[in-house]
Amino acid sequence: MLRNIIHDNNSIGKESHRLFEEFVEVESIGSGTKVGMYGGGLNQLTPVIDYQDGFLLRDVDGREYFDIGGSMASGNLGFRPKVVLDAIIEQSKTVAHAPDYPTIPRIALAKKLVAIAPGSMKNSAKVMFDVGGGPMMDLAAKLAYFYNIKVKKRTRNAVLAFYGCYHGRSIYTSLLTGYSNFVDTIPAGQEILKVPYPHCYRCYFEKQYPACNMFCTKYIRTLFERSHAGWRNNDTDDTMVTTVFVEPYQCHGGGIKPPKEFYPELRQICDDFGVLMVEDNIPTFTYSGHWFGCEYWKIVPDVVVIAKSLTAGMWPLGAIIAKKELYESWDEMPDRHYCSYMGHPLGCAAANATIKEVEDRNLLSNAREVGEFFYKGLQDLQSRHPTIGEVTNFGIIQGMEFVRDKVRRTPSLEISQAVVREALNRGLVLLGGLGSYGNRHIIHPSLTVTKEQIVHCLKLMDETITVVEKTEY
Ligand SMILES: Cc1ncc(COP(=O)(O)O)c(C=O)c1O
Repeated sequence: MLRNIIHDNNSIGKESHRLFEEFVEVESIGSGTKVGMYGGGLNQLTPVIDYQDGFLLRDVDGREYFDIGGSMASGNLGFRPKVVLDAIIEQSKTVAHAPDYPTIPRIALAKKLVAIAPGSMKNSAKVMFDVGGGPMMDLAAKLAYFYNIKVKKRTRNAVLAFYGCYHGRSIYTSLLTGYSNFVDTIPAGQEILKVPYPHCYRCYFEKQYPACNMFCTKYIRTLFERSHAGWRNNDTDDTMVTTVFVEPYQCHGGGIKPPKEFYPELRQICDDFGVLMVEDNIPTFTYSGHWFGCEYWKIVPDVVVIAKSLTAGMWPLGAIIAKKELYESWDEMPDRHYCSYMGHPLGCAAANATIKEVEDRNLLSNAREVGEFFYKGLQDLQSRHPTIGEVTNFGIIQGMEFVRDKVRRTPSLEISQAVVREALNRGLVLLGGLGSYGNRHIIHPSLTVTKEQIVHCLKLMDETITVVEKTEY
């Protein structure tokens, strides 16, 4: 098994080899390491890192890498941001563990999240905490379920999700995500319906945007309207779908950006049919150039879920921000939810410091400005390289798709993998292996990135792709 995973790779030193072999003997690589940050879908050996600073990674063989990937969307301030480390150390001197007690940093964080909540939720929402992205989505599903059944007295409780959206790897979120390889590992099923997420470059309905007139959202509306062969129950005058889970931009899906009409139209459908809209903002928090992705699209969901960069990746903490009415019955009964680490004081201190740093350094605006600059640079690469089929951006986040033939849009997993591997040989970390064909990349630079660093990254990418294009794959 191990032999199948390890390929020869110039950029992997002897010590990384040795430690990686030890590692796979004792830890299951089903965790995703084989397709993780550095493997990018290559099923290959990963350098073992023993030093990080800002954008720099150094491995146990002393090799250095420029990691533009942003730690899988958890590194909005780069690696080991001092302000966050200092906040954790400072907090540890007083209250360092408080299983679900209110603490000063926890109250401060909850107040701050309510104060920055999107649109009409501002100052009228409530929050809940847990330890990370998947658990937060589980909790959002519980809150929505409880509200729909106990408060709204809904008779059915199907939920709707989108093909290609990623929501985590707990049992529930694996079902919600619905990637075929995730569902294979799940012991039970639930009524989770799926519809295509709009990806105009590869439209599921083979339509052309904008001539399609947003056929994909009309399709959802039609299913809500129709009974028997749709989601409406004429007897109860209700729809079987009570909640929609959605990402404002598919990150794990490989940087798929819906057209501008999608989010407002989806919000309208939810309003028209009394359906809750839960936004999974876990990898997009701050990266869109706004606190929350929904602000980019100028709509307000009913629930917003955040994790990852809430603490700049320095503590496993997530939060739900939901409209107050959703908590009405929830709060009346004890024991709705509990976790020994929810609202952990060190995590809350890390989150407070992260949010303060984003504000003090005006990093949301940097994400917007540098994100556009990066996007233009990638569009330039796309115009010169026959293998780059699509590029997208969402604030500072960039998505790319590699193809064998630009006219036919033939996806190429091999080219995408070769780009990750060649980039690593040049000391640049990219994240590939994403999307339906494994041929998409996502780049999540930290919000602190400068235009000079982007120019450096674009130069390395240009060299890398040029080399790959000269090789037969
Ligand atoms: C959109 C989205 N939701 C949920 C998650 C799960 O977060 P975690 O890995 O912290 O459980 C991720 C992780 O990549 C994600 O991208």
